[in-house]
Amino acid sequence: MAEDLHKMALEAAAHAHAPYSDFPVGAAIRTTDGRTYAGCNVENVSYPEGWCAETSAIAHMVMDGGGKIAEVAVLGLKANLCTPCGGCRQRLAEFGTAETKVHLCNAEGLVETVTLGDLLPNSFDMGEAP
Ligand code: THU
Repeated sequence: MAEDLHKMALEAAAHAHAPYSDFPVGAAIRTTDGRTYAGCNVENVSYPEGWCAETSAIAHMVMDGGGKIAEVAVLGLKANLCTPCGGCRQRLAEFGTAETKVHLCNAEGLVETVTLGDLLPNSFDMGEAP
């Protein structure tokens, strides 16, 4: 089932705007109700203003009504393995759970599947009011 997400992430990475890092990234999300969204990283000459592929994919999901993330594939076109950065782990946690599957891919295919809980244990949550 993750093969379609890998394909989407690969196609998204081809759209990356990454002239500064030369590190194109693609991400693809599947919601718990089966919708899929992809995104790429978009860099900026003012370096901190760029954003990640996962962030683009999440934005597409939110613009289409939002949802919960069941699984996500991430790949760096020129990397053997690309794990989500710290900020994207927290962004994914906003719409996922500790059980959300994170497929770590390279251009050829899926390398390893972990969970969001593995990547971001004890994620920040404001919890219940006292
Ligand atoms: N990048 C992502 O798109 N996702 C990640 O989770 C890790 C990093 C991008 C940001 C930047 O454009 C490039 O990879 C190099 O850091």
